[in-house]
Amino acid sequence: MHKAIWLDTINQEKIIQYKKLKGGVSSEVYHVKTNKNNYCIKRSLKRLLVKKKWIANTNRIKFEYLWLKHCQNILKRNIPNTYEFNNKKKYIVMEYLETSQYKTLKQLYFNKIININTIRSISKHLYKIHSNSSNYKTKKTFESNYKNFYDLRLDPYFNEVGRVYPKYKEYIKKINENYIKHSNTLVHGDFSPKNILVGKNKIIYLDAECCNFGDPVFDLVFFTNHLLIKSIFFKDKSQEFIKLYVSFYKEYLSNLSIKNFNSYIDRIIKMTPIMLLSRVDGKSPVEYINKEKIKNIIRKKSFLLLDSKINSLNDVIKVINER
Ligand SMILES: Nc1ncnc2c1ncn2[C@@H]1O[C@H](COP(=O)(O)OP(=O)(O)O)[C@@H](O)[C@H]1O
Ligand SMILES: [Mg+2]
Repeated sequence: MHKAIWLDTINQEKIIQYKKLKGGVSSEVYHVKTNKNNYCIKRSLKRLLVKKKWIANTNRIKFEYLWLKHCQNILKRNIPNTYEFNNKKKYIVMEYLETSQYKTLKQLYFNKIININTIRSISKHLYKIHSNSSNYKTKKTFESNYKNFYDLRLDPYFNEVGRVYPKYKEYIKKINENYIKHSNTLVHGDFSPKNILVGKNKIIYLDAECCNFGDPVFDLVFFTNHLLIKSIFFKDKSQEFIKLYVSFYKEYLSNLSIKNFNSYIDRIIKMTPIMLLSRVDGKSPVEYINKEKIKNIIRKKSFLLLDSKINSLNDVIKVINER
């Protein structure tokens, strides 16, 4: 525990200690104690902590702050309170969620705690955000973070797959164009089990630096991709993760009109194999998959999804399930 370097007080309360939290690759996150309260401070880093060189603009923290404020109006209970935002020093002071009471969804999965109701709630929450964020004002607020989204997602994930497999460059170009074409609401951009805190009666959403006005399908594919990868990685829990995958989509897609449903399915099916490949061969590979054997299984399944006729989520599941 040390004294914070760039901040002495919060809400005029003197900071007495701060502790760095383990976490992502793009920020410094601290648990801070003042003489009265606990807080969390998050600050953006310029250079991301990954192997391949990757630099991003720190103004993305402003959009995370705007996302928190925006979503507090939609999901009051599920978004941390915010106390301060400093655009010059690039930090947010927010509510601290006690680690003894909250675990990330990722931690739960690694402890083999798999709950279908949690997934249904997450799906409902995400739909609620997406369906309440398509107005003009939201568009104007968030569209200017598209450059960061491109630098942190479309390029290092999708385009990088194209650089590794030039055969799919054209295909990926179309996916990126589709993203623009179907930009109709607020996308979180990093909707992953690592960024979801699960408590006894509450789920909390974090880490929206990549948010932008885009195609909501990105959040769906980004999130469910973690479930597909886990169904491959945790062999003994494979079918449970597939059930989560099915429930998540069933819940979300049940809200859509037939026309929208068909369009979403089409976009989901096209984006899924590139997302899968990106977590093996992109700039931000899944850190727990080191064995070449598992990487090759994921590659093989992605190629199958890309090169055969896939019409439904059931077809996707069949390919994932094949051994
Ligand atoms: N408000 C908070 N309260 C408690 N823990 C938090 C809070 N915000 C972030 N964390 C923890 O810190 C980790 C990293 O924070 P995150 O916002 O996801 O930053 P990064 O962009 O580096 O991934 C999270 O996965 C979570 O475990
Ligand atoms: Mg994170």
